[in-house]
Amino acid sequence: MSLNIKKVVIIGAGTMGQGMAQWFAQCAETSTIESVELVDINQDLCKDAIKRIIQSWNKLESKGKFTKEQIAKFEDILNPIAMEDISEDSDLVIEAIVENKDIKCKVFQSLDEKLKPGAILASNTSSIPIDSMALSLSKERKKRFLGIHFFNPATIMKLVEIINGSETDLDLCQELKSWFDSQGKKPALCKDSPGFIVNRVARNFYGESLRIANIDSQEKYREIDSVLKEVGGFRMGPFELMDLIGIDVNYSVTESVWNSFYQEPRFAPHSLQRKMVESGRHGRKSAKGFYSYED
Ligand code: NAI
Repeated sequence: MSLNIKKVVIIGAGTMGQGMAQWFAQCAETSTIESVELVDINQDLCKDAIKRIIQSWNKLESKGKFTKEQIAKFEDILNPIAMEDISEDSDLVIEAIVENKDIKCKVFQSLDEKLKPGAILASNTSSIPIDSMALSLSKERKKRFLGIHFFNPATIMKLVEIINGSETDLDLCQELKSWFDSQGKKPALCKDSPGFIVNRVARNFYGESLRIANIDSQEKYREIDSVLKEVGGFRMGPFELMDLIGIDVNYSVTESVWNSFYQEPRFAPHSLQRKMVESGRHGRKSAKGFYSYED
């Protein structure tokens, strides 16, 4: 059976929520989606995210990727709303807020009470076990709760990890896989293990690079990034990628995977990451990270 997703809600209007809201609105062209609502605890951030999405659409229009009519349709269906205005008849609600289990669970609990029984509830978490968040949900909702993990930038990266908890309806995961396939993504079904697939493998991409650099030096970051790009064939170096992801987000994910593996040294965070987080150098979003983006 194919899914009939009409009303999508994205919670969290940061790096990922913004990209996901843009992508789902664009899917209105090729799917049954009729509305995409973006929610953030900070309404101003939500409005800013919508402005940035519109700027991006205008750029894409000038490059000939979308027509004026298409952009008008996307703009029409994408709207910022407040948490209390999330409608019970939403079909798919994806959370992309701070990587903190307790905060996420509070949001899921309130949504569980509010949403219709058939609604799909998902987390974009990079590392928090799906089962640990499902604990806060009712028996029926657990069947329709899962991880839907997009990659950054969400409009461009094809991979979407679909992670089932132990109570998730596996037919639903298959239906979602087919749905994402039909929208041009490359979905992968994953088991609920620390870091899923990509974030587990990627821990060493970042961790070893940090241990090789070992000091706060842009010269070192540049050297390591260029070796991995030019010789290793990676599209971005580890330091450029951490700056894109957000060093605060990347650090939380590292800590979470490390703790889930009972602090195995190969997953250990590095003091340079903590230093960046503590000094507000969070990467591109704060204009300063391993590199500087101030101009
Ligand atoms: P971010 O820090 O850019 O944005 C988080 C947003 O959530 C902020 O706008 C904040 O105001 C909002 N927020 C916080 N608490 C909230 C609440 N209780 N209710 C509503 N809104 C709330 O974070 P980012 O990078 O977008 O990450 C979000 C999630 O996506 C995290 O779980 C992260 O691990 C995951 N993720 C991040 C990726 C990345 O490259 N940054 C890639 C894939 C997944």
